[in-house]
Amino acid sequence: MKRIGVLTGGGDCPGLNAVLVGIVRKALSYDWEVLGILKGWKGMLENLTMPLTRDSVSNILPRGGTIIKTSRTNPCKSEEDMNKVISNYKDMGLDALICIGGDDTLGAANKLHQKGLNTIGVPKTIDNDLSGTDRTFGFDTAINIATEAIDRLHTTAESHNRVLVIELMGRHAGWIALYAGMAGGADVILIPEVQLSLDEICNIITQRHKKNRDFSIVAVAEGATLGGEMIATDAPKDEFGHVILGGIGKRVSKEIEKRTGFETRTVVLGYLQRGGTPSAYDRYLGLRFGLKAVELVEEGDFGKMVALRGNDFVSVPLAKAVEKNRVVEPELYELVRVFFG
Ligand code: F6P
Repeated sequence: MKRIGVLTGGGDCPGLNAVLVGIVRKALSYDWEVLGILKGWKGMLENLTMPLTRDSVSNILPRGGTIIKTSRTNPCKSEEDMNKVISNYKDMGLDALICIGGDDTLGAANKLHQKGLNTIGVPKTIDNDLSGTDRTFGFDTAINIATEAIDRLHTTAESHNRVLVIELMGRHAGWIALYAGMAGGADVILIPEVQLSLDEICNIITQRHKKNRDFSIVAVAEGATLGGEMIATDAPKDEFGHVILGGIGKRVSKEIEKRTGFETRTVVLGYLQRGGTPSAYDRYLGLRFGLKAVELVEEGDFGKMVALRGNDFVSVPLAKAVEKNRVVEPELYELVRVFFG
């Protein structure tokens, strides 16, 4: 008989509940108990828990968000906090702790593994920027929502002969802007990994409008820059030291209008990309990641993250997964430029 803890950390993401279903159903097949840790690492610091049973995960597969809540609490801020997590882990009687999150949550899971906890990671982020896995769950839902938004912008942009700039999520990596921009037929895509000058952007748009295609859609990742500096809101930094991004869409929009004379508007898609029901693929991925995480507990394969490689569900060291972000290669962006304009 084992007792597994599970927490969800960082920004929420469609498919989190599917992972919980996978974990609980697999654990129950071994007759193990699952303890939900509430509000991410905050729950490990403050001992906030709820049992996860067959009943508590019934009917949650299509539901967005996470039934055990999340937070951006950093448990490794101080030695004292880390020791608190370790003593609570013991008091809770845990044999393992499955941490579902992005690079911050999994970075903490890795540090706590080095301190002796049996942690396992599950890769979550709509940004799809974790190394070691081909995919994170949540990304598929996000690109579907973003593509639908771009489709809708087309008709209004066309009717008014406007340029419409849509700001999408993607802090370090432009995967959402790239995939949704391609799928939605955006005329320019801006991502954090590659710099395009305002001259280039405006030239693409002007040339397009000259050819009687007198409206344009520009997809911009929130982490994209005009010359190197990311644009942030004035909200306070989170516990991991990240600024809250936002504003690049508006900045690009203003410059396009000023330089081309075309009427230009901005849309920030924001949390709509993360909220609501997960796609079928994200539910599938979440369920499979959940099953695999419990298999790793069974095998005692700790300090690892479950990952998708091709069609296989495998494990990779947490340390490798959080070492650096998986970003869009310049060659891929170059390939996509054929669709611009
Ligand atoms: O978790 C990744 C992400 O979706 C980023 O793209 C974005 O910068 C961030 O979350 C914003 O989340 P929050 O406002 O909840 O901190």
